[in-house]
Amino acid sequence: MSTLLNGREVANSLLEELRGEVEALKAKGILPKLVVLVAGQDPASAVYVRHKEKACAKVGIISEKLDYPADVSEEEILKKIEELNNDESVNGMIVQLPLPDHIDAGKVIKAINPYKDVDGFHAYNVGKMMLSKDFEDLAPCTPKGITKILDHYDVDIKGMEAVVIGRSNIVGKPIANMLLNRSATVTICHRHTRDVASHSRDADLVVVAVGIPKFLKADMVKEGAIIIDVGINRLEDGSLCGDADFDAMKDKVGMITPVPRGVGPMTVACLLMNTVTAAKKQATL
Ligand code: GUN
Repeated sequence: MSTLLNGREVANSLLEELRGEVEALKAKGILPKLVVLVAGQDPASAVYVRHKEKACAKVGIISEKLDYPADVSEEEILKKIEELNNDESVNGMIVQLPLPDHIDAGKVIKAINPYKDVDGFHAYNVGKMMLSKDFEDLAPCTPKGITKILDHYDVDIKGMEAVVIGRSNIVGKPIANMLLNRSATVTICHRHTRDVASHSRDADLVVVAVGIPKFLKADMVKEGAIIIDVGINRLEDGSLCGDADFDAMKDKVGMITPVPRGVGPMTVACLLMNTVTAAKKQATL
């Protein structure tokens, strides 16, 4: 059996650290606050948002959820963002994705004050994150969580052959960049890649984020590789499974994140970390 990268355990220790930081901020009169905007009733989003709220309560961050019906207008969301941008009691906000089809997610993200963009999706924060590891203060939460879990298990990324499968703005592109910031040699595969296995088979580190259950098979990875599975797929029997065929490869690879209890809790912990970072930064502006 390979080493299980226990995201839940690492996330809990990060949350514990954050709880101390929040306590110290509160003693100085700073009360970190996160607002989560949700439009529509996506069941997966509802679960993720519940996890975020629970984690906020655990560390003492004030959280507020604003629920909108699926037919809410883009204008109304933009108006609320403007209001939150100007509300000094709010340190961070996120708009849970996916948004209903009639709302332009790019326009919504662009409207968020970059200093309050704790998802790290605004072009300002994406651009900063591209420059160097030193500018990843408000970096996207899932990629940031991946780097934190690798740090925790003392994985030295420098010089590694890394393959990222998936090129979303939320995971694939930013994690590729953050691995590059740590001096990996990075290949990005996506739906038009002719032969994914020809790349992944040589990789020391594979990050898979495609949203397809068990997409990454055991014969697509090399012995001893590190597998980071970002997928959270619900199967017909109600169980969860990742984008990697965990059972088939768990004895072949060197390290692997499970699903659940792998990357998911790290994403939530990093959202809270970004919120505390934003609150501190705003206090000095
Ligand atoms: N949907 C899936 N992942 C995320 C995330 O990290 N942030 C937001 N806002 N929506 C998501």
